[in-house]
Amino acid sequence: MPVILGIESSCDETSAAISIDGKIRSNIIANQTVHEKFGGVVPELASRAHQQNIIPAVEQAIREAKVHKNDIDAVAFTRGPGLLGSLLVGTSFAKAFALARHIPLIEVNHMQAHILAHFIEEPVPEFPFLCLTVSGGHTQLVLVKDYFKMELLGQTLDDAAGEAFDKTAKILGLPYPGGPLIDRYAQQGNAKAFAFPEPQIPGLNFSFSGLKTAILYFVQQKEQEDPGFLQSRLHDICASVQERIVSILLNKLRRAAEEAGVRDVAIAGGVSANSGLRNSLITLGEHLGWRVFIPRFEYCTDNAAMIAIAGHHKYRAGDFVGQDVAPLARYSV
Ligand code: KG4
Ligand code: ZN
Repeated sequence: MPVILGIESSCDETSAAISIDGKIRSNIIANQTVHEKFGGVVPELASRAHQQNIIPAVEQAIREAKVHKNDIDAVAFTRGPGLLGSLLVGTSFAKAFALARHIPLIEVNHMQAHILAHFIEEPVPEFPFLCLTVSGGHTQLVLVKDYFKMELLGQTLDDAAGEAFDKTAKILGLPYPGGPLIDRYAQQGNAKAFAFPEPQIPGLNFSFSGLKTAILYFVQQKEQEDPGFLQSRLHDICASVQERIVSILLNKLRRAAEEAGVRDVAIAGGVSANSGLRNSLITLGEHLGWRVFIPRFEYCTDNAAMIAIAGHHKYRAGDFVGQDVAPLARYSV
């Protein structure tokens, strides 16, 4: 019955979680609001906020799980990819905790952890399955052969899907992070109102920078012709943009599933919280006979529960690291 403490600090969420025998008992997420007024995450501020938040988050996670510090068998932490200063806070904390308590230290790849969030609750996908991981920094199509055996089939050549949402929101004058707001406004808009271009990228890779530019020119031109256009058609623009981002993602996912010959298909990462993506994936899955796996909202965006679960599986495999481990800003899946 291993008790694992999971630590996540790769971007702007400080999170701590406890798992007992592979079941999540607590998952504390401290959101950083300092970045809102800057329209994006400011790395220096993120590191400082992690420094302030990490011990209270860990203490709360231990309290809510109703365990004692002495009960913890291992500490798992996000080694990367992410912002180096942010990763250093979680890494240093995890090392110190493991050293002081004489327990093993487990390093976790953040992108693998997003995928392994599917093993937090039943039903779980069967290996091999396909996962589309879509976050603020990544867009990846991954063939998951085993817990830690993953093959990257395709990825974005420029912006990530979450960036496409956030940058579009900025063009539309919406605050950061704009993804959830576009989602909300899209629900009141007509997705067929405007047709934004679908990039023609060969293979299983993605590109979103052309779409962003097309949206910028579209809004500028329409505003010039008809001042007030943006405000009056905001819901329709959001719905149309979201429809295009979702179709870009699902067209490649469909192709990858055909090529890999898999029927278990999952999504992960912050953008998998998007209601348009969730609904369209369910419909497509029904049409193609897939078993579709979508994480609960709280396990889509950055959280330490997924780090604790990844840690649990590494603990069972005896996969530990020494005190000389260092964080990695870039870390392939
Ligand atoms: O995985 P995540 O929490 O952090 C990273 O590792 O990047 O993903 C954050 C991203 C942001 O770009 C945010 O705008 C996007 O996920 N996001 C959404 C929604 N919720 C979060 N995008 C579209 N619709 C949503 N409902
Ligand atoms: Zn993430």
